[in-house]
Amino acid sequence: MSAQDEPATITAYPDGPLLVRGAVELRDDDGAPIEQRRRTVALCRCGLSTIKPFCDGTHKAAGFRTDA
Ligand code: FES
Repeated sequence: MSAQDEPATITAYPDGPLLVRGAVELRDDDGAPIEQRRRTVALCRCGLSTIKPFCDGTHKAAGFRTDA
């Protein structure tokens, strides 16, 4: 099995974003593809990022906490 055949994984980063690794296609709420510049992306789950759906690190300053 090559790296391209491996299933994508989503990992909840403690007190931070969801890290998505692998081949996935991100789409906005209209169904339009969202450009990915990296194979691993961090998706905001605190709701405060200025570059949603991606994490911009704001969660740290905001003190975002998760139970995970
Ligand atoms: S999780 Fe990082 S800015 Fe929201």
